[in-house]
Amino acid sequence: MIGPPPPGAPEIAEGVLFSEEAIQERVAELGRRITRDYAGRDLVLVTVLRGGVFFLADLCRHIDLPLRVDFMAISSYTHEAHTGSVRITKDLDEDIEGASVLVVEDIIDTGLTLNYLLGVLKSRGPESIEVAALLDRDVRRIVDLPIAYRGFTMPDRFVIGYGLDLRGRYRNLRYVATLPDEVMGE
Ligand code: IMP
Ligand code: MG
Repeated sequence: MIGPPPPGAPEIAEGVLFSEEAIQERVAELGRRITRDYAGRDLVLVTVLRGGVFFLADLCRHIDLPLRVDFMAISSYTHEAHTGSVRITKDLDEDIEGASVLVVEDIIDTGLTLNYLLGVLKSRGPESIEVAALLDRDVRRIVDLPIAYRGFTMPDRFVIGYGLDLRGRYRNLRYVATLPDEVMGE
């Protein structure tokens, strides 16, 4: 299932889990479904900086609706006592009361962070709130989250590319690549 890295791939990449073509095809299909499902509604796509930006940018251009996009930032990927609570360092600029919110995520792993953010957003009175995730690493899930729009379910491997980083780098790869397990131990 994991293919060889394409020419020019960083040396660190072990193999390609999802190719550029596979991602683009899937993103277009999700965009068509979202277009149908949200026709006539006040759609706001919300993503968490920085990983989700890449998926959001491609996805929104396959949605033929007058949507809005907005961004949040959170402090770090450390889960205080496994509540997933995080510090919001950049809040939304848009008012989402009465809007149909679609939270766009690069990857859902334990689900703790997203679960916490969904709680925060729900308290602002949106008409609806759903999740679109490019990658679902479901074997590591701690809190159950309904994912309305899923790109791919993936195995328990650390990946880079298409928004996902290793210490801030490799987000700009057009595909999703696996790393050898040793790299993570460094
Ligand atoms: P969780 O679902 O609360 O555990 O957090 C998911 C977040 O962890 C994602 O938004 C990513 O920023 C980060 N993350 C999880 N798995 C990976 C990976 O394989 N590569 C890069 N970042 C990851
Ligand atoms: Mg992230």
